[in-house]
Amino acid sequence: SAEDIKKLKQEVGIAAAQRVKSGMVVGLGTGSTTAFAIEELGRRLAAGELTDIVGIPTSFQASVLGKKYGIPIRSLDDVDRVDVAIDGADEVDPHKTLIKGGGAAHTREKVVDSLATLFIVVVDESKLVDKLGSTFAVPLEVLPMAISPVTRAVEKLGGKPDLRMGIKKDGPVITDQGNMVLDVTFEAIADAAELEKTLNNIPGVVENGLFVGVTDLILVGEFKDGKPQIR
Ligand code: A5P
Repeated sequence: SAEDIKKLKQEVGIAAAQRVKSGMVVGLGTGSTTAFAIEELGRRLAAGELTDIVGIPTSFQASVLGKKYGIPIRSLDDVDRVDVAIDGADEVDPHKTLIKGGGAAHTREKVVDSLATLFIVVVDESKLVDKLGSTFAVPLEVLPMAISPVTRAVEKLGGKPDLRMGIKKDGPVITDQGNMVLDVTFEAIADAAELEKTLNNIPGVVENGLFVGVTDLILVGEFKDGKPQIR
């Protein structure tokens, strides 16, 4: 149920936040799972369990949540490293390759997550797939003036592009950077590393949601014998 999934997200979010140590520069991911990690970081700071951490937000949402829970927010210009990043994912395959960008935040997420010495992915078991792209399209952040040529270019590659539309807005979703999102479905992703490069080579594509070779650790929340557990 939705309540069960929420419980799993909370458990893994908290578990990831428990791994953060005083003095660390922490990448703050985007989405409902990471939100629990940010809340737990705030709780640990307020309780005096943690001191001197700063947060590097991967989105407007992460920045707002970080401030709400009392985490000092900095930019990459203020720090010389990212010690740990905690972020969610939309799909995780057996090679730890990810599809991200369900929240349209993958561009900044890739910058921050790939800088981290330790990148922790927090997901519930529903995100695990055998083959990448089986349940989720690959999101591309695209410059608005390039949306037509990029659409044609991904069709040439065999993808089915779909301009992401707003739910409570008429018209396309606009990212934190003022761009649009094309969700591209591929029949099969044979080589994610190759596809990641190919997509980013299309002029006008700012970044795609394939994360290859970035993940260090995956915390998966799952139900075992009716109880929430972390693997
Ligand atoms: C944001 O663009 C995504 O990459 C998120 O990290 C992803 O959608 C995970 O969100 P949930 O934790 O809410 O499932």
